[in-house]
Amino acid sequence: YTAEIDASDIEKGTYAHYMLKEMDEQPAVIRNIIQHYQNENGDIELTEGVRSLVSEADRIYIVACGTSYNAGLVGKDILERIAGIPTEVHVSSEFGYNMPLLSSRPLFVFLSQSGETADSRAVLVEVKKRGYKALTMTNVPGSTLSREANETMLLHAGPEIAVASTKAYTAQIAVLAILAYDIARANGKELPFELMPELARVATIMDSIMSQKELFEDLSDRYLKTTPNTFFIGRGLDASVCLEGALKVKEISYIQAEGYPGGELKHGSIALIEDGTPVIALISQPKTNLNIRGNVKEVVARGANACIISMQGVEHENDEFILPHVEPILAPLITVLPVQLMAYYAALARGCDVDKPRNLAKSVTVE
Ligand code: G6P
Repeated sequence: YTAEIDASDIEKGTYAHYMLKEMDEQPAVIRNIIQHYQNENGDIELTEGVRSLVSEADRIYIVACGTSYNAGLVGKDILERIAGIPTEVHVSSEFGYNMPLLSSRPLFVFLSQSGETADSRAVLVEVKKRGYKALTMTNVPGSTLSREANETMLLHAGPEIAVASTKAYTAQIAVLAILAYDIARANGKELPFELMPELARVATIMDSIMSQKELFEDLSDRYLKTTPNTFFIGRGLDASVCLEGALKVKEISYIQAEGYPGGELKHGSIALIEDGTPVIALISQPKTNLNIRGNVKEVVARGANACIISMQGVEHENDEFILPHVEPILAPLITVLPVQLMAYYAALARGCDVDKPRNLAKSVTVE
């Protein structure tokens, strides 16, 4: 006889929802990742197996679904800019049936919190059949994608229970950055800043954002609580985080949401902007600061209710929230927190089941 104890009653502790607990755990997860991937000298240490896999590759193909795919988009920028290795990101369910022309020495990187997503596994089976190598980044040791790939890098995020993924997203970005730095160093590339101390700073900044949750509850009340639809706009890395912001809002608060590159909006979707349409702009990248601010003006001129969340270094006085500065390439680790929190509070305010949204499963094990 096994006692039927609902694990959730024990592990959630004083938290109302797993999602809230898991968002709160993000600084600790980053610290955990730093610990696991550095040696006693503070240098990045990957296994020889991982190192030899990446040293043979001329191009990286990231394959993933959902939030992991969105993390992959950020990873692509980091890998290309830091490691100088061409990287593509593909949705598993598409890649399996419409494989692009591959480079001569491709390395497949499977991103999967659960390590069990059937669409991703189908691709892994296919690329192995063709004799290619694969690296899985997953939160679950011993998961299918981990066992079947040549090598694994663990996310060390601890169990993620809420269907809407939060800490696995930031963990994936941090681990991808570590991989990029290791490749860069192996290839003798100049490193723009020291990664591990900057990740440690990121963790501290995450703590400070999570201690100001009520501010994002207030923004959520003002912009998302009653709206039928919303846009998240940004450029470059911010645009990738906008996709994740829109996904979070769709998943748990059922608001029709689009994440959009700011400059592309005027080529069609701006037709949807009406009086009061909430547009949340993420601004962390110096290179495109003026462009995205121009895009915000375009939507405001059409009646949008714009909420700018920016970062020190590119901030304007009237922005709704100004995040502490981090290296722009790591900004997604910080800019995603406000949108996760806003999505959470919107779901709460709208009476949605935060941890178990309708129609969704934590791990999709059918193709
Ligand atoms: C499901 C979940 C998402 C997740 C996606 C990929 O759709 O609801 O939150 O991002 O699967 O899952 P994975 O475990 O492969 O990262």
